[in-house]
Amino acid sequence: IAAYAAQQAAHPAARPVPASAVRLTVLYGSQTGNARRVAERFAAEAEANGLPVRLLRAGAYPVRELADERYLAVVVSTQGEGEPPDDARGFVEFLASRRAPKLPKLHYAVLGLGDSSYPLFNAMGRSVDARLAELGAQRLAPLAEADVDIEPVAGPWTEGALALVREKLTRELPTASVTPLRAAPTRPQFHRDRPFPAPVLANQRIVSRHADRDVRHVELSLEGSGLRYAPGDALGVWHRNPRVLVDTFLAVAGLDGDTETVHDGKTQPLREWLARERELTRLSRPLVQAVAARADSAELRIALERPEALKELFDSHQPIDLLRAHPADWDADGLVAALRPLTPRLYSIASSPQAVGEDEVHLTLAVVDYHAHGERHLGAASRWIADADEDATLDVFIEPNERFRLPADGARDVIMIGPGTGVAPFRAFVQARQQAGGTGRNWLVFGNRHVADDFLYQVEWQQALKDRALHRLDVAFSRDQAEKRYVQHVLRERGAELYDWLSGGAHLYVCGDAAQMAKDVHAALADIVATHGGKSPEAAQAWLSERLQDGRYARDVY
Ligand code: 2AM
Repeated sequence: IAAYAAQQAAHPAARPVPASAVRLTVLYGSQTGNARRVAERFAAEAEANGLPVRLLRAGAYPVRELADERYLAVVVSTQGEGEPPDDARGFVEFLASRRAPKLPKLHYAVLGLGDSSYPLFNAMGRSVDARLAELGAQRLAPLAEADVDIEPVAGPWTEGALALVREKLTRELPTASVTPLRAAPTRPQFHRDRPFPAPVLANQRIVSRHADRDVRHVELSLEGSGLRYAPGDALGVWHRNPRVLVDTFLAVAGLDGDTETVHDGKTQPLREWLARERELTRLSRPLVQAVAARADSAELRIALERPEALKELFDSHQPIDLLRAHPADWDADGLVAALRPLTPRLYSIASSPQAVGEDEVHLTLAVVDYHAHGERHLGAASRWIADADEDATLDVFIEPNERFRLPADGARDVIMIGPGTGVAPFRAFVQARQQAGGTGRNWLVFGNRHVADDFLYQVEWQQALKDRALHRLDVAFSRDQAEKRYVQHVLRERGAELYDWLSGGAHLYVCGDAAQMAKDVHAALADIVATHGGKSPEAAQAWLSERLQDGRYARDVY
């Protein structure tokens, strides 16, 4: 929380502007922080241009002010199946509703962040853009849509939209109030584009040797970095691709790693490009396009036309599978251009600075390693981290998650649902709640495959129960009996009690798999609220939706 407050204070647009003043409002709806980062930069550049700006997450925007708004920039991402980020739900629903006012005075620009391997590509950006126009607002710039690779779209959009806002808005400002080129806002010394090399303090396997997946508990030092975090935040890690994977790429593409390769004005051996600067474990539409063209594949061309087929391809293949299945003539420059730039991975932080000291940060991660298409597949970042021994460093930064916060009021109850490594932030939460010593109760629902192999942090939870830092612990081990047993089964069994906690004001958190788990848990919660709260299914859904908006139900899912 402290880190968040400090960050807010340093926010480029924190300067108060009278409500009636002409200014630019920048809104973002972000699930993993990308939209927030683009919006922050937009606001900072606007401010550096002397424009009065306010920057808000969409969930914090007072919608009644929309009618008087003159200049609005919106950066919004789309989740999975065309859903808004939890935080932007209220804003999106308000806009779509009949309560939304006519907006003849408004000028706006929208940037949508999406992933075209999902059928409803950029549904949120598209609907916000279209609805603002329908309400009578004027588009400053056409809707921009980033497809996974954000920068090539966000950069030009920021520049273009800002020039247009600036031109119009400055004309309306009294000349004296335009103070061009103020100093850039202060950023922490280390950030995404300048990560801190954090020494590895510990790196332990925390599952039994019978477990079919390796799970690591990793402790890093932040000493001297000035980096601060709060429970709920994520740690960004920049990795290098595994050497074996780079070598396999070179072999399959029939290229020599020593080939000097030019891209974006930079020249280095192909091997270096592949090891440190390209995504080798995630597919992208441009890569599928490039392979389709080079291998002259009708199959891939058809997949590119059909979102369901593309999604299926993305879910079941790594880039190397595609290169193997569709042999083609590659040259080094072409391969580097076809692969998307490497992006850092985000891991929910598993420690509280109050408990472990603010110079230390802990992670919990599953090491990706599986067989498919007759070959072994390694995870890139998890492999990199798992292999980092105790004198290595990892390049890290803090990715704040302001939506995933413990209640400020320590008397509130907290329910935490975190199967698998989704339990990580709840280790931080329980530590923080114990240190803070409030009277609220803590309930953890954990799940994994086998109680004997992968009951992550079992000893700590048992100690926390003894110390009254944890008041309830429920577990679902999915593979210890004939029928699958998941966290949502536990929730349903404990429905009456769960509803009792919720109606008493408890905050509820879900962390882990977004594709299946979070959906199934949401459905179970809706049933519980309907059954035990005496609500219709629609009213129960609406109630949960309100909790997502007011933050009492928060999800950190990926
Ligand atoms: P499974 O692998 O046996 O199916 C962490 O990965 C735990 O989450 C595992 O026990 C896994 O079970 C379980 N899991 C898989 N799918 C799930 C779902 N849809 N909802 C809840 N838990 C799920």
